[in-house]
Amino acid sequence: MSETVKTQVCIIGSGPAGLLLSQLLAMAGIDSVVLDRRDRAYIEGRIRAGVLEQGTVQALEEAGVADRLHREGLPHDGFDLAFDGDRHRIDLKALTGKSVTVYGQTEVTKDLFDRRFADGQRFFFNVEDVTPADLTTDAPRVHFRHEDRAVTVECDYVAGCDGFHGVSRKAIPETVLRTFERVYPFGWLGIMVDRPPVSHELIYANHARGFALASMRSKTRSRYYIQCELDDHVDNWSDDRFWEELAVRLGPETAAKLETGPSFEKSIAPLRSFVAEPMRHGALFLAGDAAHIVPPTGAKGLNLAVADIRLLARALTAHYRGRDDRLLDGYSAAALRRVWKVERFSWQLSTLMHQFPENSPFETRMQRAEFDYLSGSEAASRSIAENYVGLPLE
Ligand code: APR
Ligand code: PHB
Repeated sequence: MSETVKTQVCIIGSGPAGLLLSQLLAMAGIDSVVLDRRDRAYIEGRIRAGVLEQGTVQALEEAGVADRLHREGLPHDGFDLAFDGDRHRIDLKALTGKSVTVYGQTEVTKDLFDRRFADGQRFFFNVEDVTPADLTTDAPRVHFRHEDRAVTVECDYVAGCDGFHGVSRKAIPETVLRTFERVYPFGWLGIMVDRPPVSHELIYANHARGFALASMRSKTRSRYYIQCELDDHVDNWSDDRFWEELAVRLGPETAAKLETGPSFEKSIAPLRSFVAEPMRHGALFLAGDAAHIVPPTGAKGLNLAVADIRLLARALTAHYRGRDDRLLDGYSAAALRRVWKVERFSWQLSTLMHQFPENSPFETRMQRAEFDYLSGSEAASRSIAENYVGLPLE
């Protein structure tokens, strides 16, 4: 059996990028179809970082999906950097006039799903063999299998929002696509626990035994991470071992306030910096993790995806409303300018805050010197702060 579906924009991937795009397009009167190889429950179950820039909050407000975020999100005016027992607070509010909002990406995704379902968005879940085709013709298509049927979506544009492992990026010919990558020689072991956070703000710590991060999802739910070996396994980490290691890395003063308990999620994630250029090929536009990955230090992944989607939604709206293609033509260059700046920040904060096995004593001293410089320099602290709260959208 086969089926043909017609739409204006075929969105591959129902993560935050694809969902937000479908929402913004719907608000502009543009029809879309969203495909995902997983189902809603699986997508909502993914646990990822949870720090939203002001621009991201604004985008979610404009999309009409920020009510719960305003009720439950925690505004944070600063965060701490810690280095072998010394602490330096980055006062976001004083340095930039802005703050960030702690609200899990899982919750952002749920809010978007609720809204898209309420509005009758067309979704295809559990799809297989997704294949974008005819991207450089005036009749682009996306083929896939769904419940034993062969489906073809006939569309004007394809939005590749299918994450790092998706198929969209791979549809760009090798002769056109350039990729840039750095894989870090360690991972993050993260746990979630229903205990109040150790501090009301986030703490990023560099300790001789490795990086640690104290984060949270709410006033009663904490998220903690420690740097671990890439080939390590969660089975090697009982909760007790995790708490002991975290306490050492956060230092005795913070550890004294640590409320431990049974974790209900434990996982290891690798750290990677990655950019694909260009972010457009014919009718295909890449957005979010499909085009770029940042290491989680600084929590920029979702924020960057939202910034791409704002540009893309604006460009598609200009095309359909005013027959003006300038923003579509400029999308890749405009998105990449921001992407590279955010890549730089995430790489820099990662480089400052982790123990690298290949570091010589000289590089270790350089990290310490950078921390000391930051601690004493308002200008250097402001540079970190303005990146953390989010660079302006062009
Ligand atoms: N066909 C259809 N869907 C696919 C395919 C495929 N071949 N491959 C992947 N997908 C789906 C995944 O199942 C997932 O739901 O694409 C979606 C991509 O979602 P995300 O990985 O969440 O990516 P994105 O929406 O760009 O979100 C960016 O999420 O990964 C974090 O750090 C990232 O916070 C950032 C945000
Ligand atoms: C998280 O809470 O999961 C988190 C917060 C900040 C980061 C990374 C992850 O930089």
